[in-house]
Amino acid sequence: MNYKLSEEHLMIQQAARDFAQTELLPGVIERDEKQEFPAEQIKKMGELGFMGMMVDPKYGGSGMDTISYAIAMEEISKVDASASVAMSVNNSLVCWGLETYGSEEQKQKYLTKLATGEKLGAFCLSEPEAGSDATSQKTTAIDKGDHYLINGTKNWITNGSTADYYLVIAQTYPEKGHHGINAFIMEKGMEGFEIGPKEQKMGIRGSDTHSLMFTDVKVPKENRIGEDGFGFKFAMKTLAGGRIGIASQALGIAAGAYELAKEYAKVRKAFGKEIYKHQAIAFKLADMHTQIEAARHLVLKSAWDKDNGENYDLSGAMAKLYASQVAMDVTTEAVQVHGGNGYVKEYHVERLMRDAKITQIYEGTSEIQKIVISRGILRD
Ligand code: CAA
Repeated sequence: MNYKLSEEHLMIQQAARDFAQTELLPGVIERDEKQEFPAEQIKKMGELGFMGMMVDPKYGGSGMDTISYAIAMEEISKVDASASVAMSVNNSLVCWGLETYGSEEQKQKYLTKLATGEKLGAFCLSEPEAGSDATSQKTTAIDKGDHYLINGTKNWITNGSTADYYLVIAQTYPEKGHHGINAFIMEKGMEGFEIGPKEQKMGIRGSDTHSLMFTDVKVPKENRIGEDGFGFKFAMKTLAGGRIGIASQALGIAAGAYELAKEYAKVRKAFGKEIYKHQAIAFKLADMHTQIEAARHLVLKSAWDKDNGENYDLSGAMAKLYASQVAMDVTTEAVQVHGGNGYVKEYHVERLMRDAKITQIYEGTSEIQKIVISRGILRD
């Protein structure tokens, strides 16, 4: 076993940390207030190789491992979880899904642009009546010979209006249940593809979340991913890795709030001394540090599993379940350490507390993670 990060991992960590401090921190409060997508910053992240981190360089990616990705996600999320969710969806759902299951033509046409950040991707599984119950897809994809006709509505889509390419899950053979589901690549601007209004959110307000409506969208047959009926497996396999990305995001939100609370406790005085010298605060910091370290171990273990060909369904679900709870606990305590200032926007921790909540909801709620974990440990 080796608990040390390699030189290369440390360099990636430093690069992501520097980027977050110099490019994401300025304006993060205003973007949150105005619900403004960090478009310029995401472009720069693409130029630096953060949008296709694990993609083979022959398709324009950075060719790095999942550990590098988790480390970079943590650093970006410490400062701006709205930027990091765009990064996570593009990397672990869209790029990974296409690279692993797409045809060579699909990779040449779409992945090469997504991996460099020239184009942005979205992953469209959730529907008004198919959130946690993802097999209940109502969006239909009727086989018309050389194309499919797609009709339906998708909800809460990250990068909803800013994406260029959309991976869309839809039902082709309702009588076959989840075995009749397919996954398709859609392009923004296809006839009948409509983007609904932006959601007004509690947290990750800079992230661009929309409903999408499809009316007789004609998708060429060559845009189906994998074999006929592979769509639900595609979604599940892709989400298993996505959960490592969101676990890293939750870890970063927690670590960002903790670092702010620790610094604040060193300068804020009460009852004649810095507040960290009061055991009430020192113990809070001790708990926060311990929880974050435990979450980091789970996150890096799941990333290691993925890099080493081990099963990561279970470890990724455990990492997400635990890290998202830690994000809620630590951000809440970070606000408490800041006292009245914690409730004020300029100190950042209230935003991190609002951002933390979504990590218990998207890419499978905590309750869904417990389904995945319990099935994983109770399997014969
Ligand atoms: N890998 C491969 N196949 C898998 C799988 C995995 N990790 N997990 C499930 N499957 C397969 C099963 O083997 C089964 O196939 P077979 O019948 O051929 O064996 C099929 O999928 C259906 O599985 P279940 O019978 O277990 O289905 P279920 O309905 O009981 O439960 C679930 C499935 C795990 C609860 C699933 O519905 C689920 O994960 N729900 C949550 C959905 C989710 O995470 N949504 C997130 C939206 S995307 C998002 O948030 C992105 C964003 O913008 C940030």
